[in-house]
Amino acid sequence: MSKPGDFAAVRKDIVALLHQPEYDDGSAGPVLVRLAWHSSGTYDAETDTGGSNGAGMRYEAEGGDPANAGLQHARVFLEPVKEKHSWITYADLWTLAGVVAIEEMGGPSIEWKAGRTDYVDDSKLPPRGRLPDGAKGADHIRHIFYRMGFSDQEIVALSGAHNLGRCHSDRSGFHGAWVNNPTRFSNQYFRLLASLDWREKTLENGVKQFVHVDEDLDEELMMLPTDMALLSDPHFAQWVKRYAEDKELFFADFAKVFAKLVELGIKRDASGKITNADNERGRYRAAPKKSARPGKPADAVVDTTIPEETVLPFLHANMAHDLPQLMFQTSALASGFCQALLLALDIIELRHPPGVVVTTSGIQKFYSNGLDLEHANATPGFFRDSLYRLWRRFLTYPMPTVALLNGHAFAGALMLALMHDYRIQNPHRGYLCLNELELGVPLRPPMSSVFRQKLSPHTYRTLVLEAKRYKALEALKEGIVDGLGGIEEVLAFVEEGGLVKKAGGVYGLLKEEMWRETVEYLDGWEEEQERDGKVQGRREKEKVEGERRVKGWETGTKAKL
Ligand code: HEM
Repeated sequence: MSKPGDFAAVRKDIVALLHQPEYDDGSAGPVLVRLAWHSSGTYDAETDTGGSNGAGMRYEAEGGDPANAGLQHARVFLEPVKEKHSWITYADLWTLAGVVAIEEMGGPSIEWKAGRTDYVDDSKLPPRGRLPDGAKGADHIRHIFYRMGFSDQEIVALSGAHNLGRCHSDRSGFHGAWVNNPTRFSNQYFRLLASLDWREKTLENGVKQFVHVDEDLDEELMMLPTDMALLSDPHFAQWVKRYAEDKELFFADFAKVFAKLVELGIKRDASGKITNADNERGRYRAAPKKSARPGKPADAVVDTTIPEETVLPFLHANMAHDLPQLMFQTSALASGFCQALLLALDIIELRHPPGVVVTTSGIQKFYSNGLDLEHANATPGFFRDSLYRLWRRFLTYPMPTVALLNGHAFAGALMLALMHDYRIQNPHRGYLCLNELELGVPLRPPMSSVFRQKLSPHTYRTLVLEAKRYKALEALKEGIVDGLGGIEEVLAFVEEGGLVKKAGGVYGLLKEEMWRETVEYLDGWEEEQERDGKVQGRREKEKVEGERRVKGWETGTKAKL
């Protein structure tokens, strides 16, 4: 703990965490810059809403926005700093981290002022959809950045941040880095954009981007369609050329515009203090600092970066037994819940020694309520970005996983349990059942495949075609669960199997191979959609043809069976 207001101490600790040999290009810097930008880039000048105040990404509505995919890594990197200097607000920490990262990666010094507050709930969050879409053109860019109050020159200067970091297929769908040395800040992005040949390429996932193959380095560099728009639009292009030619000018302009970016939505009095009146404009008011300590991941009770509103997962390290235990409390497998669990699994992997992960529910009656079909159908990308991602993570997690089925696990809940390596069921409460037959909902490929891969053909048939409800003893006999009991029995099971020692190493890779069929279905979401469509089409066609044949038989032949 440092003295409140000792930002030099915070800066020092941010610098210390930038070196991350296991992550991306060995640096947390680029993703921290993106965190600062996305915290601020929601600003709307007209309504004076959004902006860098509030640290809204702690809440699902903003943190779970697909536009913010991947930024949980940045937030997790910063968690130890927040814990050590608990007086700093998240909103200040996230913006300061971006500024420090740029400076440390060789960029210009950027003016940064403190005083942001953290929202105490999610009622003041900006709506989704305010961040730019890399697949679009100049009109879209202007629409987004003019809304924040930036000029064409400022837009181009800001875009120079793409000198840093890379695109990740599992986050934005785009792939690769813009420059050869993506952890060194310079004007190379502009130089490459202006001088190289860029050709359009469609990636395996169907996403279109622009690429240039660097013959010497045998590396493919990339540009987003929005980056290319800076070149094709003459007003933008003049600034691309100037910044490509004049690094000093770019550094000076970038420093100014990034300082402006992280101040969006912040109004100050002459002494620099954030003034409430301005934040009240558009019915926005800076909320008091959230006082709850986030806690360090190892012993956190509730991690505040986990959206508390939709789900309450408790990440306890059960210190007595040294097992990370994920206890959740939720009505259904909705996106918030999935994202929270994904984050918790990241925290465990990155901040815990290898061990065994146990999941269970805080609600006695249910392990989980399964899928909320309405939410699933109404939420774009729910399967790909939330549910399937979570299942895949469990299925191939680099540590043993145990689902403690404290109560009912029907449909999606049972599928979640099957994605774990082991299951222990409460002998006194709850049924296991795959009741899609009763719900009238077809099983999608990965949902079916995991049962096919992990259970006997006989059990698979009974589960799917009879929707049988299994009590604990029967479930054990059929091999759906591996043992009966509660947490004590789980611990004994872990102990007996020496499971803690199995974690790490090739553990995750072995699972990738073992469950390859399900993994491929989880990954190949788009193809499966297509296949679903074809299957449906074929069924329709068969029905029509069948109808024609039967009619022909009824009217034409008069034959009797
Ligand atoms: C038209 C405007 C912009 C669009 C469409 C855009 C889009 C993107 C996309 C698609 C990614 C890849 C994300 C991933 O897959 O991980 C990305 C990364 C990044 N963006 Fe932007 N961006 C824009 C403006 C900015 C601005 C204004 C900044 C900062 C001033 C910025 C900083 C970054 C950084 C540092 C990364 C790398 C992150 C990492 O390595 O994890 N971007 N951007």
